[in-house]
Amino acid sequence: PYVIASPCVDVMDKSCTEECPVDCIYEGGRKLYINPKECIDCGACEPVCPVEAISQDRRVPDEESAFIADNRAFFETVLTGRDEPLGAPGGSHKVGPLGVDTPMVEGL
Ligand code: F3S
Ligand code: F3S
Repeated sequence: PYVIASPCVDVMDKSCTEECPVDCIYEGGRKLYINPKECIDCGACEPVCPVEAISQDRRVPDEESAFIADNRAFFETVLTGRDEPLGAPGGSHKVGPLGVDTPMVEGL
């Protein structure tokens, strides 16, 4: 899957969400997160990000590699226990801003 790394934090341009054909880029409090279970690896989001925050997991720069697990953690741990499940597959626009982040992103 594709991964959003640190340049998105507190920028949240959101151009990427308009390009994703499966609507799998979800808005947290300080950045956006790609659901690895929904991403179809199409690459459409990568070139539109003005701060180059997005890359495929195997091309994430070494210093940003923690964001691979962190993107996954957002869906597998942070969102666990929500009353309303995410609209998988897809549906980030319907879900809207989630207002929460992973502990790693909160601590930046
Ligand atoms: Fe963030 Fe870039 Fe998307 S700043 S919201 S990853 S367009
Ligand atoms: Fe979506 Fe394709 Fe990116 S599925 S998250 S636009 S790689």
